[in-house]
Amino acid sequence: MNTVLIKNLGKHLDEEVTIQGWLYNQRGSGKVKFLILRDGSGLLQCVIVKQDIGEELFDKTKVLTQETSITVTGIVKEEPRAAGGYEMQVTGFDVINIAEEYPITHKEHGVDFLLERRHLWIRTPRQMAILRIRSEIEHAFRDFFYHRDFVLADAPIITPSACEGTSTLFGLDYHGEKAYLSQSGQLYSEANAMALGRIYCFGPTFRAEKSKTRRHLMEFWMVEAEMAYFDMDDNIKLQEEMVYYVITRVLERCTRELTILDRDVEKLKNIQLPFPRISYTEAVEILKEAGEDFTWGEDFGAPHETIISNHFGSPVFVHRYPTSIKAFYMKPDPEDPNVVLGADLLAPEGYGEIIGGGQRIDDLELLKQRIEEHHLPIEAFEWYLDLRKYGSVPHSGFGLGLERTVAWLCGLEHIRETIPFPRMLHKMYP
Ligand code: 4AD
Ligand code: MG
Repeated sequence: MNTVLIKNLGKHLDEEVTIQGWLYNQRGSGKVKFLILRDGSGLLQCVIVKQDIGEELFDKTKVLTQETSITVTGIVKEEPRAAGGYEMQVTGFDVINIAEEYPITHKEHGVDFLLERRHLWIRTPRQMAILRIRSEIEHAFRDFFYHRDFVLADAPIITPSACEGTSTLFGLDYHGEKAYLSQSGQLYSEANAMALGRIYCFGPTFRAEKSKTRRHLMEFWMVEAEMAYFDMDDNIKLQEEMVYYVITRVLERCTRELTILDRDVEKLKNIQLPFPRISYTEAVEILKEAGEDFTWGEDFGAPHETIISNHFGSPVFVHRYPTSIKAFYMKPDPEDPNVVLGADLLAPEGYGEIIGGGQRIDDLELLKQRIEEHHLPIEAFEWYLDLRKYGSVPHSGFGLGLERTVAWLCGLEHIRETIPFPRMLHKMYP
């Protein structure tokens, strides 16, 4: 049995092959049946002619329901009118399991109905396309860092302290001790960078945010890099090259998926290096010119980010935010300590902040002072302070939210479709 994936059928023209999949849809008459099969890699039309395979086998097609698992053998033929460009002339098939009446039919369903059945919803072509693009993006990040000699150094998920402020921590009981699910691997990444030079980690992170927006999840994946001897400009340059590489990879390798999603790829193709860089203060000017009532020192909300990024039509770095609205570890600009040497990357088309990053404080006394000012428990940070005692160096890093990036590159309305099982406010089933 020559089993192949639907996406690779082009390599097997006029050969007899077998597809292991599920029945997505069917139509036909008493003489010819068209089974639309899916195998996770694509959809394929399989043509069954009664005269060719005999009455007994042909009659078995009558009982095939949507999502019945089935293996189909046949000859691969070119068919320009078919979705993938091929179809199969069936020579035989085996039914594995006749599916019960499937709840998700080919008509439209409401999003709540679908979310309740997320374990089945992911079988639909649109969802499969998104998840395949997500997979490509994850591979692209890993390849990018691998080819630049970064070491993959994973950070722990159970942590004794906060990284991004205490308000969004999920607490847990660690054998009688208070512990938290990690909001970011950064602090550990800094230690890893002092050991290994340039590192990245890629894992799930958790924020107990009471936000019910199209950009927030309670559990999301973050790619975080940390580089010894990098200043803010080195950091920004690395980020734009990484994001550009990922866009290119998706455009190259996910054309079928982007078509299924109806993504306007011109918007992605038009993106060029370098990305524009503006200061927070300049961004505030743009907001004011657009008629927004905004005071220097406030944090940007989603509508502000959209105005700023629409101004450029490209991903744009906003650097030197007010020190007062940023995390304790951000290094103040020596030329103006009211702002920090940090930058966020805002994605175009209203997708908002996808990266937060910056240069870290490398001075021991200043770091201690900032931990106090933020009312963080200094005991929990003793190990972190050690990094400033033993060979402290200027260093920088960033974290990119995977799901927001997937939503942007796929052109999705809402982040909930970018991960197989989204964890949202008051929603964690299935
Ligand atoms: O800007 P954030 O909070 O930065 C950090 O956590 C740094 N410690 C990272 C670092 O420097 N190593 O989060 C980084 C990114 C955001 O830009 C956003 O893309 C994503 O994580 N993010 C979320 N994505 C989905 N749902 C949420 N609730 C998110 N919160 C942040
Ligand atoms: Mg941020």
